[in-house]
Amino acid sequence: EIIREISGLNSLETEVRKKLGLEKVIIVSGNSDESPWVKSELGRACAGCMKDVLEGENIIAVTGGTTMAAVAEMLTPELSKNILFVPARGGIGEDVQNQANTICAKMAEKTHSKHRVLYVPDQVSSEMYQTISKEPAIHEVLTMIKSANIVLHGIGDALKMAERRKTSSEDVAKLREKHAVSEAFGYYFNEDGLIVHKVQTIGLQLDDLANVEHVIAVAGGASKAMAIRSYMKQAKTNTVLITDEGAAKQLL
Ligand code: G3H
Repeated sequence: EIIREISGLNSLETEVRKKLGLEKVIIVSGNSDESPWVKSELGRACAGCMKDVLEGENIIAVTGGTTMAAVAEMLTPELSKNILFVPARGGIGEDVQNQANTICAKMAEKTHSKHRVLYVPDQVSSEMYQTISKEPAIHEVLTMIKSANIVLHGIGDALKMAERRKTSSEDVAKLREKHAVSEAFGYYFNEDGLIVHKVQTIGLQLDDLANVEHVIAVAGGASKAMAIRSYMKQAKTNTVLITDEGAAKQLL
Protein backbone atom coordinates (compact mmCIF):
# COMPACT_ATOMS: atom_id res chain seq x y z
CA GLU A 1 0.00 0.00 0.00
CA ILE A 2 2.85 2.38 0.87
CA ILE A 3 4.57 1.56 -2.41
CA ARG A 4 1.35 2.27 -4.27
CA GLU A 5 1.12 5.68 -2.58
CA ILE A 6 4.69 6.60 -3.43
CA SER A 7 4.45 5.44 -7.02
CA GLY A 8 1.23 7.40 -7.46
CA LEU A 9 -0.88 4.40 -8.46
CA ASN A 10 -3.63 5.32 -6.03
CA SER A 11 -4.07 8.81 -7.42
CA LEU A 12 -3.87 7.46 -10.97
CA GLU A 13 -6.73 5.10 -10.08
CA THR A 14 -8.82 8.01 -8.83
CA GLU A 15 -8.17 10.05 -11.97
CA VAL A 16 -9.00 7.18 -14.33
CA ARG A 17 -12.09 6.29 -12.31
CA LYS A 18 -13.41 9.84 -12.62
CA LYS A 19 -12.47 10.14 -16.27
CA LEU A 20 -14.29 6.94 -17.21
CA GLY A 21 -17.17 7.42 -14.79
CA LEU A 22 -16.64 4.09 -13.03
CA GLU A 23 -17.00 3.16 -9.40
CA LYS A 24 -13.82 1.17 -9.15
CA VAL A 25 -10.54 1.03 -11.07
CA ILE A 26 -7.50 -1.03 -10.11
CA ILE A 27 -4.15 -0.22 -11.73
CA VAL A 28 -1.02 -2.35 -11.63
CA SER A 29 2.38 -0.88 -12.39
CA GLY A 30 4.07 -1.28 -15.77
CA ASN A 31 2.87 -1.65 -19.34
CA SER A 32 1.85 -5.11 -20.50
CA ASP A 33 2.70 -4.22 -24.13
CA GLU A 34 6.33 -4.06 -23.10
CA SER A 35 6.64 -6.50 -20.21
CA PRO A 36 4.75 -9.80 -20.34
CA TRP A 37 4.84 -10.18 -16.56
CA VAL A 38 2.55 -7.16 -16.22
CA LYS A 39 -0.23 -9.31 -17.68
CA SER A 40 0.33 -11.77 -14.83
CA GLU A 41 0.04 -8.84 -12.43
CA LEU A 42 -3.31 -7.96 -14.00
CA GLY A 43 -4.24 -11.58 -13.33
CA ARG A 44 -3.14 -11.34 -9.73
CA ALA A 45 -5.14 -8.14 -9.24
CA CYS A 46 -8.19 -9.83 -10.75
CA ALA A 47 -7.80 -12.78 -8.37
CA GLY A 48 -7.72 -10.33 -5.45
CA CYS A 49 -10.81 -8.57 -6.71
CA MET A 50 -12.63 -11.91 -7.12
CA LYS A 51 -11.75 -12.86 -3.57
CA ASP A 52 -13.46 -9.72 -2.33
CA VAL A 53 -16.71 -10.37 -4.14
CA LEU A 54 -17.13 -14.13 -3.72
CA GLU A 55 -19.94 -15.14 -1.39
CA GLY A 56 -22.18 -18.17 -0.99
CA GLU A 57 -22.63 -19.99 -4.26
CA ASN A 58 -20.99 -18.35 -7.25
CA ILE A 59 -21.39 -18.76 -10.97
CA ILE A 60 -18.58 -17.01 -12.77
CA ALA A 61 -18.91 -16.44 -16.52
CA VAL A 62 -15.62 -15.90 -18.32
CA THR A 63 -14.70 -14.74 -21.83
CA GLY A 64 -11.64 -15.69 -23.87
CA GLY A 65 -8.35 -14.00 -24.73
CA THR A 66 -4.76 -13.92 -23.50
CA THR A 67 -5.60 -11.66 -20.55
CA MET A 68 -8.26 -14.05 -19.24
CA ALA A 69 -5.77 -16.88 -19.75
CA ALA A 70 -3.30 -14.92 -17.57
CA VAL A 71 -6.01 -14.47 -14.93
CA ALA A 72 -6.56 -18.25 -14.88
CA GLU A 73 -2.86 -18.83 -14.22
CA MET A 74 -2.96 -16.59 -11.16
CA LEU A 75 -5.92 -18.23 -9.39
CA THR A 76 -5.26 -20.38 -6.33
CA PRO A 77 -7.25 -22.91 -4.26
CA GLU A 78 -7.47 -20.25 -1.56
CA LEU A 79 -10.15 -18.64 -3.73
CA SER A 80 -12.35 -21.69 -3.85
CA LYS A 81 -15.71 -20.87 -2.33
CA ASN A 82 -18.37 -22.80 -4.12
CA ILE A 83 -17.51 -21.65 -7.60
CA LEU A 84 -18.79 -22.87 -10.94
CA PHE A 85 -16.97 -21.43 -13.95
CA VAL A 86 -18.87 -21.18 -17.23
CA PRO A 87 -17.78 -19.76 -20.58
CA ALA A 88 -19.63 -16.50 -21.28
CA ARG A 89 -20.19 -17.47 -24.89
CA GLY A 90 -19.63 -20.33 -27.30
CA GLY A 91 -16.44 -20.41 -29.37
CA ILE A 92 -15.64 -17.20 -31.18
CA GLY A 93 -12.81 -18.35 -33.35
CA GLU A 94 -9.87 -18.11 -30.98
CA ASP A 95 -6.94 -20.50 -30.72
CA VAL A 96 -7.72 -23.19 -28.19
CA GLN A 97 -5.58 -21.73 -25.36
CA ASN A 98 -7.46 -18.44 -25.66
CA GLN A 99 -10.94 -19.93 -25.75
CA ALA A 100 -13.34 -19.37 -22.89
CA ASN A 101 -13.94 -23.13 -22.53
CA THR A 102 -10.23 -23.82 -22.02
CA ILE A 103 -9.85 -20.88 -19.62
CA CYS A 104 -12.82 -22.03 -17.52
CA ALA A 105 -11.32 -25.50 -17.24
CA LYS A 106 -8.01 -23.97 -16.13
CA MET A 107 -9.73 -21.69 -13.58
CA ALA A 108 -11.59 -24.65 -12.12
CA GLU A 109 -8.39 -26.68 -11.94
CA LYS A 110 -6.48 -23.85 -10.24
CA THR A 111 -9.19 -23.24 -7.64
CA HIS A 112 -10.25 -26.89 -7.18
CA SER A 113 -13.75 -26.00 -8.24
CA LYS A 114 -16.14 -26.93 -11.06
CA HIS A 115 -16.68 -25.80 -14.62
CA ARG A 116 -18.99 -26.44 -17.54
CA VAL A 117 -18.29 -26.18 -21.24
CA LEU A 118 -20.29 -24.77 -24.11
CA TYR A 119 -19.22 -26.11 -27.48
CA VAL A 120 -21.07 -24.28 -30.18
CA PRO A 121 -19.65 -23.65 -33.64
CA ASP A 122 -19.33 -20.09 -34.92
CA GLN A 123 -21.19 -18.69 -37.83
CA VAL A 124 -24.15 -21.04 -37.97
CA SER A 125 -27.53 -19.94 -39.25
CA SER A 126 -30.03 -18.45 -36.83
CA GLU A 127 -32.33 -21.47 -37.34
CA MET A 128 -29.44 -23.64 -36.26
CA TYR A 129 -28.94 -21.50 -33.15
CA GLN A 130 -32.60 -21.89 -32.27
CA THR A 131 -32.27 -25.65 -32.52
CA ILE A 132 -28.97 -25.87 -30.68
CA SER A 133 -30.14 -23.77 -27.74
CA LYS A 134 -33.02 -26.20 -27.19
CA GLU A 135 -30.66 -29.16 -26.76
CA PRO A 136 -31.05 -30.04 -23.07
CA ALA A 137 -27.30 -30.16 -22.29
CA ILE A 138 -26.70 -26.80 -23.98
CA HIS A 139 -29.84 -25.27 -22.58
CA GLU A 140 -28.68 -26.17 -19.08
CA VAL A 141 -25.32 -24.43 -19.53
CA LEU A 142 -27.02 -21.40 -21.09
CA THR A 143 -29.27 -21.12 -18.05
CA MET A 144 -26.21 -21.18 -15.79
CA ILE A 145 -24.51 -18.51 -17.89
CA LYS A 146 -27.56 -16.27 -17.66
CA SER A 147 -27.59 -16.62 -13.87
CA ALA A 148 -23.92 -15.74 -13.34
CA ASN A 149 -23.33 -13.40 -10.42
CA ILE A 150 -19.81 -12.55 -11.57
CA VAL A 151 -18.55 -11.92 -15.11
CA LEU A 152 -14.86 -11.68 -16.00
CA HIS A 153 -13.99 -10.34 -19.42
CA GLY A 154 -11.23 -8.93 -21.58
CA ILE A 155 -11.39 -5.95 -23.91
CA GLY A 156 -9.61 -6.11 -27.25
CA ASP A 157 -8.56 -3.74 -29.99
CA ALA A 158 -11.20 -4.21 -32.71
CA LEU A 159 -9.02 -4.80 -35.74
CA LYS A 160 -6.48 -6.91 -33.88
CA MET A 161 -9.27 -9.13 -32.60
CA ALA A 162 -10.84 -9.41 -36.04
CA GLU A 163 -7.52 -10.49 -37.46
CA ARG A 164 -6.85 -12.97 -34.67
CA ARG A 165 -10.26 -14.52 -35.20
CA LYS A 166 -9.75 -14.83 -38.94
CA THR A 167 -12.79 -12.68 -39.60
CA SER A 168 -13.98 -12.60 -43.23
CA SER A 169 -12.66 -9.75 -45.36
CA GLU A 170 -16.21 -8.42 -45.77
CA ASP A 171 -16.62 -8.14 -42.01
CA VAL A 172 -13.19 -6.53 -41.64
CA ALA A 173 -14.18 -4.00 -44.30
CA LYS A 174 -17.38 -3.30 -42.35
CA LEU A 175 -15.39 -2.82 -39.12
CA ARG A 176 -13.06 -0.36 -40.86
CA GLU A 177 -15.87 1.52 -42.52
CA LYS A 178 -17.74 1.86 -39.23
CA HIS A 179 -14.56 2.80 -37.34
CA ALA A 180 -14.69 -0.06 -34.86
CA VAL A 181 -12.26 0.54 -32.02
CA SER A 182 -12.94 -2.06 -29.34
CA GLU A 183 -14.26 -5.58 -28.93
CA ALA A 184 -15.68 -7.55 -26.01
CA PHE A 185 -18.01 -10.57 -25.88
CA GLY A 186 -17.96 -10.68 -29.69
CA TYR A 187 -19.43 -7.16 -29.90
CA TYR A 188 -17.49 -4.44 -31.73
CA PHE A 189 -17.81 -0.79 -30.65
CA ASN A 190 -16.84 2.55 -32.17
CA GLU A 191 -15.15 5.44 -30.39
CA ASP A 192 -18.46 6.53 -28.87
CA GLY A 193 -19.14 3.08 -27.46
CA LEU A 194 -21.86 2.28 -29.99
CA ILE A 195 -22.17 -1.29 -31.27
CA VAL A 196 -21.13 -1.42 -34.92
CA HIS A 197 -20.90 -5.19 -35.38
CA LYS A 198 -21.67 -8.35 -33.48
CA VAL A 199 -20.47 -11.92 -33.90
CA GLN A 200 -23.48 -14.18 -33.64
CA THR A 201 -22.88 -16.64 -30.81
CA ILE A 202 -25.05 -17.97 -28.04
CA GLY A 203 -24.40 -17.29 -24.39
CA LEU A 204 -24.10 -14.04 -22.48
CA GLN A 205 -25.29 -10.99 -24.40
CA LEU A 206 -24.26 -7.44 -23.64
CA ASP A 207 -27.69 -6.57 -22.22
CA ASP A 208 -27.36 -9.37 -19.67
CA LEU A 209 -24.53 -7.51 -17.93
CA ALA A 210 -27.00 -5.11 -16.32
CA ASN A 211 -28.30 -7.99 -14.19
CA VAL A 212 -24.89 -9.21 -13.07
CA GLU A 213 -23.78 -8.22 -9.60
CA HIS A 214 -20.06 -7.95 -10.32
CA VAL A 215 -18.53 -7.36 -13.72
CA ILE A 216 -14.74 -7.30 -13.85
CA ALA A 217 -13.07 -6.07 -17.05
CA VAL A 218 -9.36 -6.80 -17.33
CA ALA A 219 -7.34 -5.09 -20.07
CA GLY A 220 -3.93 -3.45 -20.11
CA GLY A 221 -1.16 -2.15 -22.34
CA ALA A 222 -0.82 1.39 -23.73
CA SER A 223 -1.96 0.09 -27.14
CA LYS A 224 -5.34 -0.84 -25.66
CA ALA A 225 -6.16 2.60 -24.24
CA MET A 226 -8.43 3.60 -27.12
CA ALA A 227 -10.24 0.27 -26.94
CA ILE A 228 -10.73 0.58 -23.18
CA ARG A 229 -12.06 4.13 -23.51
CA SER A 230 -14.46 3.06 -26.26
CA TYR A 231 -15.81 0.03 -24.38
CA MET A 232 -16.18 1.96 -21.12
CA LYS A 233 -18.29 4.64 -22.85
CA GLN A 234 -21.17 2.19 -22.79
CA ALA A 235 -20.25 0.04 -19.78
CA LYS A 236 -22.47 0.17 -16.72
CA THR A 237 -21.06 1.54 -13.49
CA ASN A 238 -21.15 -1.99 -12.03
CA THR A 239 -18.02 -2.74 -14.08
CA VAL A 240 -14.71 -2.76 -12.22
CA LEU A 241 -11.78 -2.01 -14.52
CA ILE A 242 -8.43 -3.68 -13.87
CA THR A 243 -5.73 -2.15 -16.03
CA ASP A 244 -2.05 -1.21 -16.04
CA GLU A 245 -0.14 2.04 -15.82
CA GLY A 246 0.66 1.91 -19.54
CA ALA A 247 -3.01 2.06 -20.52
CA ALA A 248 -4.00 4.32 -17.61
CA LYS A 249 -1.59 7.10 -18.60
CA GLN A 250 -2.97 7.10 -22.14
CA LEU A 251 -6.52 7.23 -20.81
CA LEU A 252 -6.02 10.58 -19.11
O1 G3H B 1 -12.53 -9.75 -26.08
C1 G3H B 1 -11.43 -9.26 -25.90
C2 G3H B 1 -10.29 -10.05 -26.14
O2 G3H B 1 -10.61 -11.33 -25.79
C3 G3H B 1 -9.05 -9.56 -25.46
O3 G3H B 1 -8.04 -10.43 -25.81
O4 G3H B 1 -6.77 -10.42 -23.71
O5 G3H B 1 -5.83 -11.45 -25.75
O6 G3H B 1 -6.05 -8.98 -25.60
P1 G3H B 1 -6.59 -10.30 -25.17
